Amino acid sequence: MAGPARLCVTNQKGGVGKTTVAINVAGALNELGRNVLFVDLDPQGNATEGLGLLEAYDDEPPTLLDALIDPEAVSPDDIVHSHSEMDVVTSNIDMNAAASALARQSNAETLLEDLLDGIEEGYEYVIVDCPPHLGVLTDNALCATENLVIPALTEPTSKRSLELLFDYVGSLEMDHDVEIEPVALVANRIETTREDEEMLAWFEDALPDVPLYRVRKRVALQRAFTDGKSVFEADEETDMETVFTALAETLEDRFSTREVTA
Ligand SMILES: Nc1ncnc2c1ncn2[C@@H]1O[C@H](COP(=O)(O)OP(=O)(O)OP(=O)(O)O)[C@@H](O)[C@H]1O
Ligand SMILES: [Mg+2]
Repeated sequence: MAGPARLCVTNQKGGVGKTTVAINVAGALNELGRNVLFVDLDPQGNATEGLGLLEAYDDEPPTLLDALIDPEAVSPDDIVHSHSEMDVVTSNIDMNAAASALARQSNAETLLEDLLDGIEEGYEYVIVDCPPHLGVLTDNALCATENLVIPALTEPTSKRSLELLFDYVGSLEMDHDVEIEPVALVANRIETTREDEEMLAWFEDALPDVPLYRVRKRVALQRAFTDGKSVFEADEETDMETVFTALAETLEDRFSTREVTA
């Protein structure tokens, strides 16, 4: 039986909205009644903070890093924390040592896949938030999920970051015999200038087969982060809820043939 749909939110460029998009897509799926397991794979732990679980970032071992290296030595209770909208595999300060620690493993790029195999039962979606660089952690997210949500700012630097990302994904596919699909492009922090419109047109031209979502610059998204929740559970309403709901519904269409494993 098929397990949960797995997605990662990736762009090696920093500060483009990966964590914001990951949390709010998870919140939208929860709003549609789905069980979501969220994985904060970023050593910065921003999603861990933005879901109000920052105390887990300083937990003593065993942590996510230990679980990646030896899933059987760690109980899910040590790394999976409850949030009102989802369950969360929190990041930890020791993830800063992950690049060198994981590189020493023989199957360095497939450790997350092995970990998820053991803990994802009962969930319908697994959403992985990635760090802002390409390397062994992002490789793990891409290989484990094979589905990619890409946030990008409506500014010219996004052209090159998307090119670099697709080149990188292409090499990873060849090296690891995986097929990684871009499932959504999220133009983020859009304002109302001519430059924003030009970049939206460029995204549509460059990736005609990837659904494009338009997330405007909204302080409500920052406030929800500070409150430790998605916009769906935050007190303040925002018109961006409809955008994240539309993205979640597209995921539902795409992955509806999957069944829950328990
Ligand atoms: N649509 C938006 N409107 C307003 N603020 C936003 C929006 N999207 C993101 N932000 C803010 O921009 C900052 C960066 O966003 P976020 O942390 O989600 O990016 P990131 O890609 O995860 O960053 P990093 O590369 O460091 O992981 C945060 O302060 C966030 O609240
Ligand atoms: Mg982030």
